[in-house]
Amino acid sequence: MTDTTVTPAPQRGRKKLFIKTYGCQMNVYDSERMRDVLTPLGYEPSDSPEGADLVILNTCHIREKAAEKVYSELGRLKPLKEEKAASGAPMTVAVAGCVAQAGGPEIQRRAPVVDLVVGPQTYHKLPELIASVHRGRGEALDTEFEVEEKFDALATPDRQIEGYTAFVTVQEGCDKFCTFCVVPYTRGAEWSRPVDQIVAEVRALAAKGVREVTLLGQNVNAFHGQAPSGHEADGTWGLGRLVRHLALIGGIERIRFTTSHPKDMDEELIETFADEAKLMPYFHLPVQSGSDRILRAMNRKHSAEEYLAIIERLRQARPDIAISGDFIVGFPGETEGDFEATMDLVRQVGYAACFSFKYSRRPGTPAASLGAQVDEAVASERLARLQALLGEQQEAFNRSMVGKALPVLFERTGRHDGQISGRSPYLQAVHCDGPESLIGQIAEVEIVSASRNALAGRLTGGKRSAA
Ligand code: 5AD
Ligand code: SF4
Repeated sequence: MTDTTVTPAPQRGRKKLFIKTYGCQMNVYDSERMRDVLTPLGYEPSDSPEGADLVILNTCHIREKAAEKVYSELGRLKPLKEEKAASGAPMTVAVAGCVAQAGGPEIQRRAPVVDLVVGPQTYHKLPELIASVHRGRGEALDTEFEVEEKFDALATPDRQIEGYTAFVTVQEGCDKFCTFCVVPYTRGAEWSRPVDQIVAEVRALAAKGVREVTLLGQNVNAFHGQAPSGHEADGTWGLGRLVRHLALIGGIERIRFTTSHPKDMDEELIETFADEAKLMPYFHLPVQSGSDRILRAMNRKHSAEEYLAIIERLRQARPDIAISGDFIVGFPGETEGDFEATMDLVRQVGYAACFSFKYSRRPGTPAASLGAQVDEAVASERLARLQALLGEQQEAFNRSMVGKALPVLFERTGRHDGQISGRSPYLQAVHCDGPESLIGQIAEVEIVSASRNALAGRLTGGKRSAA
């Protein structure tokens, strides 16, 4: 989870917009949508809050640290806003995203610098909300759950796009209620976009040069979107069928999706890994813990063995598939034995890359009121051990690429002259010497060296399929 800044494409306009994005890829996608919806109002990019008339913090609430970062940033914006107001250039500060959803009016009480709080389902109302702030109609607050209305109102096929890869939200929300997690409260109930809408968006992206789409959802493999026109009798489609359908769109070479839940794996999706070459052989399937006792306390609805069985089935279907995951250490009541079960599971799976976190107590979630919260020092020590093992696995996975020829989607020039960089099917950063004309294309690279975070190689001259 990194902080990213969306820098809008230059456009004519008199007002400047700065969006700072925290957290997951869905927030990155939402920031782009906010930018699109504000462009017709004359907002053009600013690369810093100093130059902006409107600052939006698109926030993450998943762990305490993520949420606290927002208040630090608001603290930094306060003197800037005062200074700008004094010089006759008022600045509007909006808090969007999951902190907005969870915090509501509390945010404006705690940080009066905030003019506007807007939850994830109401970005299409931003122009109206901003207008109302400007008109001095007082506090504007909109954090209702109306996800359907959101996607109807955001004209996604018209989205501005830079580069060759894009996120597309296909599903939002979560009904799983893992006991540690705020998402069911901040993103609301599970909901899927209709297939027609997704297809229109992906077609438009392909026409703008996008070669790789990542389908996003908090529970993406629970996708069950309304069948497209002409297929109404089919009711809803699952993710496997959607992926196969999107693979038919000309120009789209690679498809990924994230984040999945083990409970929602179905045979059709596994089969799609087996026979759809455009679906990349890299799969993020969080497990959180290897201890059945902890999995139960987390309300994950599956055992360690069931998770391992899914991984085995995936490997049968697609032998070159690589797996990534998410882990939480220090969940309330986690013993050394539970933690060892997690380490065992990691050894059995052999991950390509993972995210691992110390449990963060989120007020209002069921786990927050459990006794037996794990001592901070114990959790830190376990996290260090887990990350050492995951780091070794990641490095071993990268090193196993040396000598292989991998298709790379080149996305940008590299660090030195004549170098270009892109991604392998496994999302590894790959650098090699080559012409800029390859940017936006897939070409084959023979890997000559590997480190924990990147691969280096040379072009073979082959231009081959996506994976
Ligand atoms: N504490 C620590 N990690 C968390 N995650 C979600 N909620 C918490 C929490 N309260 C992690 C999970 C999830 C990822 C997106 O963030 O591992 O898969
Ligand atoms: Fe949170 Fe669990 Fe839903 Fe994932 S599946 S978003 S961890 S509640």
